[in-house]
Amino acid sequence: MARELLQWDGAMEFQLGQYGFVQEAVDPALDIYEEIERLKHEKDAVLLAHYYQEPEIQDIADFIGDSLGLSRQAAATDAAIILFAGVHFMAETAKILNPDKKVILPDLNAGCSLADSCPADEFADFRQRHPDHVVISYINCTAGVKALSDIICTSTNAEHLVRQIPPDQPILFAPDRNLGRWLIRQTGRPMRVWDGACIVHETFSERKLVGLRMRYPDALVLAHPECEEPILRHADFVGSTSAIRRFARESEAHQFIVATEEGILHQMRKDCPGKHFIPAPPESGCNCSQCPHMRLNTLEKVYLCLKHELPEITLKEDLRIRALAPIERMMAMSTGVS
Ligand code: 13P
Ligand code: SF4
Repeated sequence: MARELLQWDGAMEFQLGQYGFVQEAVDPALDIYEEIERLKHEKDAVLLAHYYQEPEIQDIADFIGDSLGLSRQAAATDAAIILFAGVHFMAETAKILNPDKKVILPDLNAGCSLADSCPADEFADFRQRHPDHVVISYINCTAGVKALSDIICTSTNAEHLVRQIPPDQPILFAPDRNLGRWLIRQTGRPMRVWDGACIVHETFSERKLVGLRMRYPDALVLAHPECEEPILRHADFVGSTSAIRRFARESEAHQFIVATEEGILHQMRKDCPGKHFIPAPPESGCNCSQCPHMRLNTLEKVYLCLKHELPEITLKEDLRIRALAPIERMMAMSTGVS
């Protein structure tokens, strides 16, 4: 992640290289919600937030969504500034789609274990060893990996995209082994899969999930396809964050055990105040169903990011152009999918 010494206003310097976010004390008397609203209007900024952000950030966002919804919003916005409350690859995707807009991320350290599990140079070798394969990469990857891919997908449209590949065309899928395995099972298509994973979705405990099901026999288990196979086997529904949210809204059931980052529960509880949502238990005693990368963003950092328009996402133009093509292919191949 490129970080550099940045000048602000000719007077102050923020060494983002050391911290990755703006260091400034926030006046405790400040109405931070009101101030963020004021700055959004003054600067013509739009605040996009992923479902995994903490509830207070979701509550001030102009749009809350999954990776596909947020990419579509980023592609469609007229705002001059995109403040992305999510992780680095998401803000980077917004920049790939919007070279002329300023894209800012509250904390540059907000990475992704899945993206980290697939370094672009190793992926280039992998791809070279399988030149006849079409490369489908999950959006949770760096611009470098996107630039080496033919089609980008998200958990919302992955199955839809795989089904459009001619049956005799070999497929290479990266970087999530769990999503890859689930897609193979759903579509019956063999695929060569990169061995990467998400630290959050791999922490759920099958043993504890079975125990929870016994305590709540009427509860349905809803799981994200980034979860491991043993968890997915217990799921009544497998889908992206937006699909999980929609399923709970439309279901007749009243209790749900949810196996994904627990930030999604905020919108689910708002959608259905009468229903009971239980986060799936991680193997350890700590609250590991929170993504440590997503949770680096705080309300204070969102405010300071907007105030100083830092840290900013920048990309080399040749890399951006190469990474844009597979994202545009995804958009074209998944119109109408939500
Ligand atoms: P979706 O937003 O596609 O549901 O993916 C979840 C995720 O892990 C994002 O990092
Ligand atoms: Fe990456 Fe997993 Fe966090 Fe999503 S939840 S941003 S895949 S580490």
